[in-house]
Amino acid sequence: MIRSVVRGYGAALPKRVVTNRELEDMVDTSDEWIVQRTGIRQRYIAGEGETTASLGEQAARAALDKAGLTPDDIDLVLVATSTPNNTFPATAVEIQDRLGMTHGYAFDMQAVCSGFVYAMATADLHIRGGMAKRVLVIGAETFSRILDWTDRTTCVLFGDGAGALVLEAQEGEGTNADRGILTAHLRSDGSHKDKLFVDGGPSTTGTVGHLRMEGREVFKHAVAMITDVIEGAFDATKTTADDIDWLVPHQANRRIIDGSAKKLGIPSEKVVVTVDLHGNTSAASIPLALSVALDDGRIKQGDLVMLEAMGGGFTWGALLIRW
Ligand code: ACO
Repeated sequence: MIRSVVRGYGAALPKRVVTNRELEDMVDTSDEWIVQRTGIRQRYIAGEGETTASLGEQAARAALDKAGLTPDDIDLVLVATSTPNNTFPATAVEIQDRLGMTHGYAFDMQAVCSGFVYAMATADLHIRGGMAKRVLVIGAETFSRILDWTDRTTCVLFGDGAGALVLEAQEGEGTNADRGILTAHLRSDGSHKDKLFVDGGPSTTGTVGHLRMEGREVFKHAVAMITDVIEGAFDATKTTADDIDWLVPHQANRRIIDGSAKKLGIPSEKVVVTVDLHGNTSAASIPLALSVALDDGRIKQGDLVMLEAMGGGFTWGALLIRW
């Protein structure tokens, strides 16, 4: 049986770090409020010349290096983003061009903070369907460019960055027998679309717009939605919380992460948390967190890793992978 196995990973962050203290000079907020309500201590903010495509390219090159591959080996570039360089063409084709690829195909996916889980599930279908042998799955965002920097209820929460994985079709044989993506569960419910949205767009205002959010409403739904899809992934694979080596959640808020893990019975030592370092980087947050936990040796080949996310739409999803 063909499985989508992770062959390489990479990450990229903007040069500039912005601490909570620096935000105190911009809006009426405090380091204490931000840390207590969200767990965020700092975030990276893109400067001149740094874009979703440039960060995505950097993460992709790092992932290719780790995999010992070159752009020639890739069939599909899939970019999860809600902050593309342009309305069109897709940021994925821009990254394809930056990598010097004129073969294969590339497209963007937009599921806001769940984008990386959606992109991994989609890449898996392209691999198992035989359309692509190797896929660069990239989550890349520059949310700083759609924030209202006078709105303290949103501007303190987000950051910029990118992460990438190389997925490869492998026959499940020998030591690889149970590696790869085991199941993916995706959900959305557009009746919540006004709780977290951008108030502009090409077909409505003709502007880019700014992020707007009813934070309490998002919070109210998050834990139930996240635990529901994770339980779906457990049921489909006949696994339980005890079988999981690592939970790598979308990094929106420490309280949502802790609440979900507690409800599922996953101990905090098995949860990868990077929201303190990166803030909420939307579709980039899971591959950035994966990079940290792979670099420091926590996640190893053979580990059972649950990815999960929830975001604007609402969209939500979970994906179980044997590393
Ligand atoms: N600094 C200081 N005070 C603030 C700030 C700030 N940055 N932002 C809001 N406040 C104030 C509010 O004005 C309010 O003051 P008031 O009582 O005088 O009216 C008070 O703090 C409490 O506001 P709440 O919105 O009730 O605060 P809450 O405890 O709900 O925390 C937060 C807000 C952190 C946004 C929380 O609701 C949350 O985490 N929601 C989830 C949203 C999220 O994570 N979104 C990310 C995108 S979706 C995703 O990725 C899953």
